[in-house]
Amino acid sequence: MAYVTHLRCSRCGSEYRLEDGKVICDRDDLGRLDIYYDYEAISRTLTKEALEKRRGGVWRYFELLPVSRRSSIVSLGEGGTPMIRSERLSRHLGLKNLYLKDETRNPTASFKDRSMTVGVSKAVELGVKKTCTASSGNAAAALAAYSAKAGLECYAFVLEEASIGKISQLQLYGAKVFRVRRVEEGVDPTVQLLRLVVKNYGWYPCPSFGPFNPYQVEGPKTISYEIVEQLGWRIPDWILIPTGSSCLLAGIWKGLRDYYELGWIDHLPRLAAIQSTGNAPFVRAFKEGMDPMNIEPWRNPRTVASGLMDPYPWDGDAGLIALKETDGVAEAVPDDLILEAQKLLASMEGMFAEPSGAAGLAGAMKLLEDGVIDPSDEVVVLVTGSGLKDPDIVKSMFAEPPMIGPSLEEFRRMLNRLG
Ligand SMILES: Cc1ncc(COP(=O)(O)O)c(C=O)c1O
Ligand SMILES: [Zn+2]
Repeated sequence: MAYVTHLRCSRCGSEYRLEDGKVICDRDDLGRLDIYYDYEAISRTLTKEALEKRRGGVWRYFELLPVSRRSSIVSLGEGGTPMIRSERLSRHLGLKNLYLKDETRNPTASFKDRSMTVGVSKAVELGVKKTCTASSGNAAAALAAYSAKAGLECYAFVLEEASIGKISQLQLYGAKVFRVRRVEEGVDPTVQLLRLVVKNYGWYPCPSFGPFNPYQVEGPKTISYEIVEQLGWRIPDWILIPTGSSCLLAGIWKGLRDYYELGWIDHLPRLAAIQSTGNAPFVRAFKEGMDPMNIEPWRNPRTVASGLMDPYPWDGDAGLIALKETDGVAEAVPDDLILEAQKLLASMEGMFAEPSGAAGLAGAMKLLEDGVIDPSDEVVVLVTGSGLKDPDIVKSMFAEPPMIGPSLEEFRRMLNRLG
């Protein structure tokens, strides 16, 4: 049984029961069907002590997820990722307490596995046979992998310039991939097509955007649960979150609120949403105080952080409220700072992140320099995706390694030449 009381559309307020099996509001108004839980009932089975005895990742928190039957669960062993206390990097930055939540360790190498284990488990529970998504990045790869595991057909709509690396990952997982031409500035053509296909074919949409699938929003909540537990039930001062559609930010906030409602924490940390200056619609909305329901899309996204390219933050409404309620901030960082953060993570902490995955650290560096984060603050940075996703970026940072024969003489000569 699930402990969900109801789902409520974030735009029109229409309410549904979990058993209605809705994915999208009947009014098709691009509202998100926010999921509400019965915390009293949950706390009768789920106690802190019981939780501490459970092993595993995302599904340790079954009662806080919107799936009714354990038999529906489709898992690849996601979640339960380490939170690593940084030492060399902390000293380098002058931050006393810096923790790195290493989401690159998930099965398809990004945090999106947490989203898609929930989204696909729900698909199984609803008895659907076909899943579809709009993204060429981590969310699509995760959906394709979990769909493969569940034996569901997966359709992926990707941008025409999607890299061969990403397309081949999708193809190997067995997804049917379509590249979609862009026809209008500020509008994602893959999302346009996704909406048409869902309406006309009735397939199950599972991109990592709340308005198109509310169930997957619940997966990343488990990152917050884990952070609190890994800190010994202490709440950090800050959590830094790379932000594209804001779905991750919304999930992190929702997870913290769950623990607050259960009485397991007594306040929330400050959240910081980080985007690239090359695509910062959410940061602009925050700084200009835009109406959460009318965020202006970014016309021409350009950034090395390909996972943060969404021209429109589909969950920006929840994201803006999250920042308001946690006394949070949103900040944009230039691509060169993101690349510097990516290098620092690898060279000082042994953590191989893609640029989007390193954007949270770049944000921490900027907020520290601006005096928003204090050097003594306890800071958790989410490292959200692996560098193996985007090797071309790394290749462009370095010269080709020298080529020599297997002789000491050639090695010495080259060592001298390199200095
Ligand atoms: C590695 C990585 N980090 C962060 C994000 C941002 O998540 P969201 O789009 O939910 O804001 C993404 C999204 O694709 C991503 O791939
Ligand atoms: Zn609605």
